[in-house]
Amino acid sequence: MSGGKLTKDPARRGLRFRACATLLASCASVGACRDPAVQPGTASTAGSGSSPQPTVATQAASAGAAQAFYADRFSKKPEPAAMTELGRALFFDPRLSVSGKMACATCHDPRFAYGPPNDRATQLGGPELKLSGLRAVPSLRYLQTVPPFTEHYYEEGGAEADQGPTGGHTWDGRADTLHDQARLPLLSPLEMANPSLEAVVAKVEQAPYAAQFRAAFGGDVFSDPTRATTAVLLALEVFQQDPKEFYPYRSRYDAYLRGRVNLSAREARGLALFADPQKGNCASCHPSGVRSGAFPAFSDFGFVALGVPRNSALPANRDAGFFDLGLCGPLRTDLSRHREYCGLFRTPTLRNVSLRRVFFHNGVFHRLRDVIRFYVERDTNPAEWYGKGGSVFDDLPADARRNVDREPPFGRKPGRPPALNEAEMMDLIAFLGTLTDEDLVPVAAKR
Ligand code: HEC
Ligand code: HEC
Repeated sequence: MSGGKLTKDPARRGLRFRACATLLASCASVGACRDPAVQPGTASTAGSGSSPQPTVATQAASAGAAQAFYADRFSKKPEPAAMTELGRALFFDPRLSVSGKMACATCHDPRFAYGPPNDRATQLGGPELKLSGLRAVPSLRYLQTVPPFTEHYYEEGGAEADQGPTGGHTWDGRADTLHDQARLPLLSPLEMANPSLEAVVAKVEQAPYAAQFRAAFGGDVFSDPTRATTAVLLALEVFQQDPKEFYPYRSRYDAYLRGRVNLSAREARGLALFADPQKGNCASCHPSGVRSGAFPAFSDFGFVALGVPRNSALPANRDAGFFDLGLCGPLRTDLSRHREYCGLFRTPTLRNVSLRRVFFHNGVFHRLRDVIRFYVERDTNPAEWYGKGGSVFDDLPADARRNVDREPPFGRKPGRPPALNEAEMMDLIAFLGTLTDEDLVPVAAKR
């Protein structure tokens, strides 16, 4: 990471891990608690044995705003199971969009780990489903440990090194909680395009599950707009924290961590390359090991500029002066004066990544192979990625190019051999295939 005061030690970066504030915030105040320490373990049927189980450590709610959101304001205390079912109904309901055709699940398809069902760099939304979004759709699995955004992240227990900006939802971390996040697609003119949350609530009030809403939150839930909005956002949030649906920990790699299966020779070589600081060094940002009993999310949720090539297929990029710079804007507005943050995006999870057909925040790549080649050849063969004679890091304005990460697998001189050869890249891809959850393996096999 080369963003000024941020830590230079790649080994430290991999240690970033923080547990879920949103889950526990919702637990604490509305009684949405299933014991977080036992959730993933119970969901995984892993049962007993001494193999490590994923846990979600306790963490106090951070923002006062979040606490206000969770303050009990319903005439009936909603049960988590009822909220989960309501959230599910909302998530799959296309009525919540102005087009009447777009649900959350249209972009976040459960068959693809709640990621995009197609290879489009960005999806089409808006009132007539003709407007292109700005960014690739992320998977919604394994986000339960994303901490609220902070500019200066310190390891729990070991406070010495500032890990730099970490956490928050979306590619630029601008939503602290899943309920804050849910407002964005509901109101974005490029997505579900509602004029207001009140308009969404009006549709929910007419929906077949309106009676269930009243049963869960109290008969007066729709009488007050704030209460009704809160109920809708909360239901979506609680649904997205359902362990079985969103963090099952049921990949072959999880079975391997539990000591139940072996990796093939090729997968094992891939894992070693993934973790080796001199080779892939992937685990320095996408941690692969068990930590304090918690299974890895394959992201430390930190922010890094990789200098991914500009995607000329995005309509916004027809304007040569437009740059999506992540942390420093333009979608996010509070850090726009921090030029050292320009080009930094939040590290995505790699779980279920083999199901994706679109990669990086701007969806510039469509094959995992190209992503890995980019990592190892970005600096050794820049013309391949940015065109001959063109400028490198062509999706960043000149003054932001120095923010780009240059640690392994990056940082080799042009013309030098890349950090991984062809066979090693194939091993790495084989390893990434072990991160697909069992319920999605048939989809992966068809691709
Ligand atoms: C038109 C496609 C589309 C629809 C519809 C949509 N999303 Fe998204 N979603 C996206 C994109 C694109 C992003 C990344 C946004 C960004 O980085 O600014 C995203 C990001 C997210 C994130 C943050 C994930 C992370 O990694 O932090 C969550 C959570 C989410 N969406 C939930 C929802 C919910 C809930 C709904 C329905 C209310 C919904 N989305 C509807 C495209 C969509
Ligand atoms: C310095 C931190 C860092 C290192 C090292 C790193 N990554 Fe990443 N990875 C990121 C960030 C940040 C992104 C998102 C960048 C963007 O979209 O602009 C990303 C994105 C990805 C994606 C795209 C996922 C998606 O949902 O679009 C894949 C695949 C990936 N990384 C695999 C790897 C592999 C394999 C390695 C090792 C060869 C690796 N990464 C090393 C930080 C890192």
